[in-house]
Amino acid sequence: MRLRSTGAAIAALAALAPGSPSAGQAPAAPRGEAIYVERCKECHESGDERAPQRAALAAKPAAEIVAALTTGPMAPMAEGLAPEDKQAVAAYLTAH
Ligand code: HEC
Repeated sequence: MRLRSTGAAIAALAALAPGSPSAGQAPAAPRGEAIYVERCKECHESGDERAPQRAALAAKPAAEIVAALTTGPMAPMAEGLAPEDKQAVAAYLTAH
């Protein structure tokens, strides 16, 4: 019956989630990565010289990234992201 396959799909997703080999990382990291890839990477890993490249972002304090996304020059790029999404992407960038 349908319920069984739904349960299997959820189990498969749950098995995929803790994929990172470095345990102890912030749980926000996978979500932060998804947001980064979807909304930031095209500029920040493109070699576009106006945009600080990823290593430069990683050197900033997470709070500064959140501020850039909230009240700074990146606020338009982060439109629609919840505060915890901004935290997640900042945590992802600064964790590497
Ligand atoms: C359309 C291209 C583009 C996208 C998309 C983009 N950025 Fe940027 N980002 C830039 C440019 C260009 C600058 C330099 C802005 C400046 O110096 O005024 C910048 C600057 C920044 C800075 C430094 C801000 C500061 O105060 O110096 C941070 C942090 C940042 N971006 C994070 C992000 C994050 C996180 C995302 C995804 C949510 C993102 N950006 C999406 C182009 C982009």
